[in-house]
Amino acid sequence: MTEESTLHTDVLARMRLDRRSALVTGAGQGIGRGFALALAQAGASVTVVDLDNSRAESVAHEIVAAGGKAIAVKADVTDEDAVQNAIDLTIAEFGELTIAVNNAGINRNAAAEDTTLDDWDLHQRINTRAVFRSCQLEAASMLQRGYGKIINTASMSTLLVPHPQKQIAYNVSKAGVVALTRTLAAEWADRGVRVNCISPGIVRTALIEESDELRPLVSRWLQDIPLGRLAEVSDIQAAVVYLAGGTSDYMTGHNLVIEGGQSLW
Ligand SMILES: NC(=O)c1ccc[n+]([C@@H]2O[C@H](COP(=O)([O-])OP(=O)(O)OC[C@H]3O[C@@H](n4cnc5c(N)ncnc54)[C@H](O)[C@@H]3O)[C@@H](O)[C@H]2O)c1
Repeated sequence: MTEESTLHTDVLARMRLDRRSALVTGAGQGIGRGFALALAQAGASVTVVDLDNSRAESVAHEIVAAGGKAIAVKADVTDEDAVQNAIDLTIAEFGELTIAVNNAGINRNAAAEDTTLDDWDLHQRINTRAVFRSCQLEAASMLQRGYGKIINTASMSTLLVPHPQKQIAYNVSKAGVVALTRTLAAEWADRGVRVNCISPGIVRTALIEESDELRPLVSRWLQDIPLGRLAEVSDIQAAVVYLAGGTSDYMTGHNLVIEGGQSLW
């Protein structure tokens, strides 16, 4: 297809993910669930991975009930055998792994002077080390085939220091996600594997709503957000479809920030 004829091909059709398969971690609820549903709506078959099997099953059922294809796999992302098993099951069920979304993560709050090294290590293990190891495992078949899309969930905290909550271990763990995304993107650019990350601002999920420390801060945060509200999961969904499909093939190593303008002030 020539460059000129591509311009006349329906852009929404070019964003479809039919015949693609995707794996999403931490997909049992919140942002990961939103990503899994969005990828399925765009036509991808989805492996819903979560530590909590009943949540994973329920999201996979939601996708199938809506006419999509999905399987649920219980895996702790810090367990590399469990991640490899999720990849193997995806390839066995759907024939390939083209799209991998490394989204599972935790957020615990503590002042810098009170942050224990155990807490530091926990954030590194789940939010950074497991994302790196998952990228390695997911990329194995993508590098062989010469095509793949990896999308990691980072955070707005990679651009600014969110406040008044104190979360040094989290902020540093997510800075690592941006650094590893950029580095892998550069190393794999000439082998067809694109690696990008999405950095949401403050999204109204259980991570906020079920936290006694974070929930009371919502009215304070709103003063810092030009768009005047927290993000909904639906505000983030289209980004993953874009980064998963062919229309973003010229984008790699990017940190796509969706934060209601919070980093402007
Ligand atoms: N909510 C926000 O405001 C916000 C903002 C920026 C970035 N993020 C990031 O987005 C991602 C998802 O956040 P969320 O708000 O949807 O969180 P959430 O707590 O609502 O959901 C996280 C899901 O991940 C699963 N999970 C946790 N640890 C896991 C592990 N070790 N292995 C497999 N699954 C695991 C949980 O069971 C849960 O289903 C996280 O990486 C988080 O840091 C969230």
